[in-house]
Amino acid sequence: MKILVCLDLDSFDFEIFSIMNKKLKIVSVASEVHPFSKSGGLADVARSLPKALKRLGHDVVVITPFYAQIINIKEYGLKPIYENVDLEIDKENSVKINYWKGYLMEGLPIYFIESGQYFSKKKELYGSQHENRRFYLFDLAALKLLTLLKFEADIIHCHDWHTGLIPELLQKQFKESSVLKNSKTIFTIHNLAFQLGHNWWEMPLEKKDDGRKALPKFSSPDIENINFAKRAILNADVINAVSEQYAQEILTPKFGQDLHRILENNKQKLFGIINGIDHFEYNPATDPGLAKNYSIDSFYFKKQNKEALQKYFKLPVKPEIPLLAMASRISEQKGFELLIKILETLLKRNLQLIIAGDGEKKYLNIISKLQKKYPKKLSLKPFEQKGETSIYAGSDLLLLPSRFEPCGLNQLYALRYGCIPVVHSIGGLADTVEDFNPKTQQGNGFIFKIYHEYNLLIAVARAIETFQYKEVWKKIINNGMKISSSWEIPAKKYVELYKKALKK
Ligand code: GLC
Repeated sequence: MKILVCLDLDSFDFEIFSIMNKKLKIVSVASEVHPFSKSGGLADVARSLPKALKRLGHDVVVITPFYAQIINIKEYGLKPIYENVDLEIDKENSVKINYWKGYLMEGLPIYFIESGQYFSKKKELYGSQHENRRFYLFDLAALKLLTLLKFEADIIHCHDWHTGLIPELLQKQFKESSVLKNSKTIFTIHNLAFQLGHNWWEMPLEKKDDGRKALPKFSSPDIENINFAKRAILNADVINAVSEQYAQEILTPKFGQDLHRILENNKQKLFGIINGIDHFEYNPATDPGLAKNYSIDSFYFKKQNKEALQKYFKLPVKPEIPLLAMASRISEQKGFELLIKILETLLKRNLQLIIAGDGEKKYLNIISKLQKKYPKKLSLKPFEQKGETSIYAGSDLLLLPSRFEPCGLNQLYALRYGCIPVVHSIGGLADTVEDFNPKTQQGNGFIFKIYHEYNLLIAVARAIETFQYKEVWKKIINNGMKISSSWEIPAKKYVELYKKALKK
């Protein structure tokens, strides 16, 4: 964790001594939690960080929406705990809600907030016209639940904009709450591009929320202008971004998404902690989703996974041809703007590329056209969660040329499975992938620094050239597989951060 502004460490250590060994009561609130609901990496973090905190001995609970069209009550054995609760939002508005309970692991409960009107109608997690209203309700209902449970939280950990009103509501509506009066908040920025339920860059200037005025009435259309992320930055006790590099980048106009000034003004409470991955669940030695399990000592078995993947993607089964993969949202952020420009040039070389994902039509159309022209080299399929790890296990290289990337988890999964990442050196990618240096034999991937398609092309060319040298390639795989990106260290850093918040 990088401390952006130096704290007085001597006095800091002394003061937190008394709470240093305390078992903390932690609440993690997120709009998606794998496997119940998932649209991206947020769901993975919202699942695996609480588990890691629990393993460290803390008392953890998780709160998330009950998406009635998506979450199967029977499959997860969910039980209703409070029904028909009258949630008073403001003097004029109240909504009836239900609370459900399940478990993420033994001793780690997950609570679901159900509202027939706001979370039960859509097949998608997001995209309603009243997205702000939905999550305003969710934030308030989450705090209400803690009072019902009498869970005297030390820390309420809010993930991304959807939970961004919690710090403010805690200070205002719940100021007098005997249960929550000592609770502190942390706001984690997973992606600053998302600040409210609508695109911040499309909001007319006069409608932009300054973050300081009282919240409008729940029924007022003005609620849709409220910038949750801005208010979280202003009101949370501490904030962090999901990598050290991203925590620095968001202070700049280029990556600050219009919030860089506010972040700069609050930088004494801004930190960066890189995400981890769940090493129990993402383990090529035991993963039930693979054609053949393997480990660092037997990674020659990867070739059986490569064969299975080539078959699945209907490409010729050829062990000697480098197999490249992309397994991310097909969007501008993920670097498709660059890929599209060099795709045909790449396909003229001796390689295969699989793309597993959904996303923007303009990219999908070009990819589909080229797939028809180069059927033996390019294959596109929608992303399927259950097949995700078979992509890392079967591919030689994973392309992640993101324009910006707060953390990125795919490169961490790829490294764990002996699949070499080719990345733009930005955000969490810069923090986790080291360029391979043939002289020193150090490094676990291939990186390019300046965001331009030629640089991506050069990085891929270097990678596929190196792939020809089997001993060198083994070395890179080894370098990647031997590093640990488990949650153990980041979870401990979060505990340190929680303790900083508690000291406030
Ligand atoms: C968001 C970010 C991604 C990060 C993930 C989990 O999806 O875009 O970079 O890995 O959140 O923090």
